[in-house]
Amino acid sequence: MRFFIDTADLDQIKEAKELGILDGVTTNPSLMAKSGITGAKNIEDHYKKICEVVDGDVSAEVIATDFKGIVSEGEYLATLAPNIVVKVPMIKDGIKAISHFSSKGIKTNCTLVFSAGQAILAAKAGATYISPFVGRIDDINWDGIALIRDIAEIYAVQMYDTEILAASIRNAKHIVDSARAGADIATCPLHTITGLFKHPLTDIGLEKFLADHRKGNPS
Ligand code: E4P
Repeated sequence: MRFFIDTADLDQIKEAKELGILDGVTTNPSLMAKSGITGAKNIEDHYKKICEVVDGDVSAEVIATDFKGIVSEGEYLATLAPNIVVKVPMIKDGIKAISHFSSKGIKTNCTLVFSAGQAILAAKAGATYISPFVGRIDDINWDGIALIRDIAEIYAVQMYDTEILAASIRNAKHIVDSARAGADIATCPLHTITGLFKHPLTDIGLEKFLADHRKGNPS
């Protein structure tokens, strides 16, 4: 499974890259606003900065919700850098636009996916990625990981090429469970990636190794 970081924060993107395990970035309008990036020009410049740091795919979300608007915004975003992926909401005009982008060879990420039916539509339209929102499904007491499992099964049976990008990841367990359920990628806030490091027995074990070394090698 590949790792994307789910943030617009350049420092966090750089930190994840330095770990040597970063495959891409996803952003959304909320994450841009959270990082204080507002206004079309600043947002564009910020996408360019992210794309300079990261070699892998970088999702840039359209704001338009009508076919013409999504197409013109998405085609423009795709010119900003070769690794831009146009992120399009799971709505009727979004699916039409994904089909259009697909025919033009522009990569897409269909976002706000909450059901297997939506995942089938996005795959039929030729989406490069779909983003099922694991955490937001759990938030309403449904099962986000079960959705990843369903979509993975359907995509395998139907031999769809669309990749499953598990999104709305809230903790390290979501990453592990998404991997087991068949997600191709998990897009994660930095704290969930670093959460994977943590195990008390690792800390205790390392402390003991170093203490034993000090005993045999007094300074
Ligand atoms: C990423 O593509 C999604 O926009 C993001 O993971 C949503 O996460 P949230 O549910 O924590 O806002």
